[in-house]
Amino acid sequence: MRIEDPKIIGALSELNVELRRSSLAELTSLAIGGTTDLLRIQKHESIPGLLSLLDSHGVPHRFLGGGSNLLVGDGELPWVVLQLASPDPDVVLEGNFAQVDAAADLGRTVTFCAKHDLGGMEGLIGVPGTVGGALRMNAGAYGMQIGSYVREVKLYRAATRQIEILRGEQISFEYRHTSFAPDDMMLAVKLELPSKPFKEILQGIRICNEKRRSSQPLGQKSAGCIFKNPPGASAGRMIDELGLKGLSVGDARVSDRHANFFVNTGKASANDMLALITDVRERVRTAFSVELEHEVVIWNA
Ligand code: EPU
Repeated sequence: MRIEDPKIIGALSELNVELRRSSLAELTSLAIGGTTDLLRIQKHESIPGLLSLLDSHGVPHRFLGGGSNLLVGDGELPWVVLQLASPDPDVVLEGNFAQVDAAADLGRTVTFCAKHDLGGMEGLIGVPGTVGGALRMNAGAYGMQIGSYVREVKLYRAATRQIEILRGEQISFEYRHTSFAPDDMMLAVKLELPSKPFKEILQGIRICNEKRRSSQPLGQKSAGCIFKNPPGASAGRMIDELGLKGLSVGDARVSDRHANFFVNTGKASANDMLALITDVRERVRTAFSVELEHEVVIWNA
């Protein structure tokens, strides 16, 4: 979608929102996705005004975090994409609390806190994406999840059209799921992290990194795990047991290293990836009578 109305363009610049034509293939770790206008937001405070501007002109929109858990459709996309620009600094520490902007890189945040003897998030070190994305999905790995450390969340709430602060107890964090509404926009989070000596945190980080390197196709274009694990089972193991590693549609391929990672080996289209996802789900349903749920977020027009 292209914004061409000079009135909207003028209002965007007044709100300090940068407008840029973008390919989602360049903004997602799968390197798949069509083209649209990207609106980069410099200040949280401009969000309510921006959203009422877009709504009043009937411009549909989606919120993009780090693009690392996302499969976007091909071609000209029927909505504009909003993304927060990262402030400097994006993490501020006070005692055991870390106030983190949603646009902050997750891995860098974990390392920054570690250097100040704040641990707990070692398992998240290799998870790509922003803190806002991790928060919305309640990202987790190696027995921990970010939700356990959340004390406050600043968000734009679609229901009230305002920026609000929620306390940790007001939010439910479950396995790869939170109680935020789909149109809520994460803006910042206050984490309370346990004190730990840097050396000890580093040791934990090294162990997680090693586990990840040995079991996941790092360095290849992917969106992490495609399916959630069904209760008490592993989607990756089930797909592997069916001998589906290497199964391909065009350049979309079930990873040879971890069967729940689907990689883009070249110029895979969204349709290739979606066809592969559908095929694998059907085979798992037939073999195990299990309906796999997407873990990856799909933006298909
Ligand atoms: N397995 C296989 N074949 C495979 C993949 C896995 O047999 O191709 C087996 C493993 O040997 C192991 C079991 O399945 O016995 C579980 O595998 P793994 O430890 O790799 O964990 P997972 O359940 O596949 C989950 C998360 C990952 C997270 C890891 C580590 C989900 C969907 N996946 O994977 O998160 O990194 O545990 O904690 O919850 C993600 O969210 O995108 C993600 C990758």
